[in-house]
Amino acid sequence: MAPVVLRVALALQLGLFSAVAVEGPVVITGATGRTGALLYNTLKAKGVSVRALVRNVTKAKEVLRCSACDASEGIFLGDVTKKETLVQAMEGAGALAIVASSVPVCTGGMDTCSYPKGAFPVDIDWLASKVQVEAFAESQKKAGKVPGPVVLCSSMGTTEPDSFLDKLGNGFAVFYKLNAEAALMSSGLPFTIVKPCGLSDTAAGEAQLLVGHDDSISLKTPITRGDVARVMAEATLQPEKAKGLRFDLCSQPGAATADFGKLFDEARNPLAQAQAQVVV
Ligand SMILES: NC(=O)c1ccc[n+]([C@@H]2O[C@H](COP(=O)([O-])OP(=O)(O)OC[C@H]3O[C@@H](n4cnc5c(N)ncnc54)[C@H](OP(=O)(O)O)[C@@H]3O)[C@@H](O)[C@H]2O)c1
Repeated sequence: MAPVVLRVALALQLGLFSAVAVEGPVVITGATGRTGALLYNTLKAKGVSVRALVRNVTKAKEVLRCSACDASEGIFLGDVTKKETLVQAMEGAGALAIVASSVPVCTGGMDTCSYPKGAFPVDIDWLASKVQVEAFAESQKKAGKVPGPVVLCSSMGTTEPDSFLDKLGNGFAVFYKLNAEAALMSSGLPFTIVKPCGLSDTAAGEAQLLVGHDDSISLKTPITRGDVARVMAEATLQPEKAKGLRFDLCSQPGAATADFGKLFDEARNPLAQAQAQVVV
């Protein structure tokens, strides 16, 4: 009879386990946002304990369908720029999913966009991402646990300086997202960084998902927010498969992707794959 570890490894290889439980609730920041709410619902539907970090209880009531909308229902009021407001939600958490982001306000075309004071990409996508990672790391240390994974929703387009996304509202959103990625990667925490192409709101689970690196995959079709949420949910639930990955994510018409373990294998950077083969 093979040892337990070997049997578990074999079962994982064969895709027999779709999920490995995280130790504690998954905290989702930006949970009342369009992708954040879908991630919240996806994990909840899988029976995973989730905590929503929101900044507006009225919106949480509408979007997340809570009633008391407080800690008793896993809803925590906080501002990602202020670490002290994140402590309660992070206490005893098993994983962190960062979906909070800066949101440009546009009155017409792209040249009319701006960001509210204190909510520019430098504030939210960069500095507040570091605040969220630090708050989570501190909670893990306080609980004396092996740190759980952090899954960050970033963006494709980070290889192009001064792109139209950076020029939007003069916010340099993609530049600051890239800095947040680097900060997470050097935090020492297990991480997965998902970098979607253009987002849409069509139905999830109907497209073939494409992974790649360095903006090399085709952006012909956008990816729906529901599919980004599904990939983030699986990255949270399969940390052993998804940890250390940073990948572009897009979609195209075709056989709908259902095997996320395989998708994570494909998402491993070719250089890292080659190294792994040498080590083995
Ligand atoms: N749009 C695209 O085509 C595209 C392409 C690639 C990547 N992305 C990235 O994908 C991610 C998800 O995008 P999305 O459009 O689904 O997001 P979204 O709907 O704009 O949600 C952003 C969330 O961040 C929250 N937030 C902002 N500032 C906060 C603060 N100070 N404290 C707490 N929460 C705060 C917002 O709270 P409220 O709910 O209270 O407003 C909202 O829930 C973002 O990182 C985005 O940049 C977007």
